[in-house]
Amino acid sequence: LQNGLARTPPMGWNSWNFFACNINETVIKETADALISTGLANLGYTYVNIDDCWSKVTRDAKAGSKIANSLLCKTKMMLLQGQMVPDPKTFKSGIKALADYVHSKGLKLGIYSDAGKFTCQVRPGSIFHEKEDAMSFASWDVDYLKYDNCFNLGIEPKKRYPPMRDALNATGRSIFYSICEWGVDDPALWAGKVGNSWRTTEDINDTWVSMTNIADLNDKWAAYAGPGGWNDPDMLEVGNGGMTYKEYRSHFSIWALIKAPLLIGCDIRNMTAETKEILSNQEVIAVNQDPLGVQGRKVHSNGTDGCQQVWAGPLSGNSLSVVLWNRCMQAATITAEWNVIGLEAGTSVSVRDLWQHEVVLNNAVASFSAQLDAHDCRMYVFTPQAALMGNVM
Ligand code: DGJ
Repeated sequence: LQNGLARTPPMGWNSWNFFACNINETVIKETADALISTGLANLGYTYVNIDDCWSKVTRDAKAGSKIANSLLCKTKMMLLQGQMVPDPKTFKSGIKALADYVHSKGLKLGIYSDAGKFTCQVRPGSIFHEKEDAMSFASWDVDYLKYDNCFNLGIEPKKRYPPMRDALNATGRSIFYSICEWGVDDPALWAGKVGNSWRTTEDINDTWVSMTNIADLNDKWAAYAGPGGWNDPDMLEVGNGGMTYKEYRSHFSIWALIKAPLLIGCDIRNMTAETKEILSNQEVIAVNQDPLGVQGRKVHSNGTDGCQQVWAGPLSGNSLSVVLWNRCMQAATITAEWNVIGLEAGTSVSVRDLWQHEVVLNNAVASFSAQLDAHDCRMYVFTPQAALMGNVM
């Protein structure tokens, strides 16, 4: 969606993967504090996104009429339907106060609703209430809306998602619009004009099997991603405990290369040093945030079930990002051949390892190989010597 937002994939945090429904304003505030104190905010993680369960189970008719009066809205419908209100037990200060808090730290606040009658956790959904809900979100100074797909009355996504785009747009506030219809209706084919990102698959869970499947399913939509609108293979599970360090490093490397939203899904107030190291890798983040905005792809697979893989994609300045990914159960040597990753034969490249943070070879020609443990990856930037010379001159 060309609304000026999402020129690079969004970065931040979302409550769902770790907290599910166990959220409250303290968790959100402490997470905002932790984004600052850990240095993650400085690296670009600026969205603090509240997922399902922030709202009261019913709309508030009184609040609805108040807002309607104050905005001179005339429809009786609006009075009857009422306004969405934060759960008074868990978000008693309200979303506006939370947005003020988050903004005071230089961060942005995201909220969640559903293109259906109810959210997946049975809070009010926004279908047929798009205008008043968008007005509420804008009046609370919200910066991002994730829009889910439960209780959708059997109406097709192509019909249910545009009304909220239009309602958000009509508020005059810049609000990132995240379409979450779980890839059910091939959103890459139509959502580029509707949202700033669209989920391509069902929910991720904190397992190697889920993460690798999702990476594969998301891959085929690569051509549809770019500045303004991104494929969304769901939020990060890094740090939630279900995968090993190497598996999480693979997860993060691949999500970066495929230009996925980098939305942290763990409890950053209590993360381990390893989790922090993965999420804080500036060189990997730079690949994700590269201004060219081209989604990297799986370009080669070999071995049992294709478990020895090469993923690659172009970066600005004629460089390439390359991930060698060993999805096999045992160690393997994986080779990136120039013709496979899109380099001309004979090109000499410098190879920078983004996890070792050093140039590991100055003049690779024709191919580059590495030995990898089971489920490990290596991530590189390949820079052709000609491009390097160009930089010097
Ligand atoms: C389904 C979505 O895909 C998840 O990311 C999460 O938002 C839950 N619904 C919340 O109920």
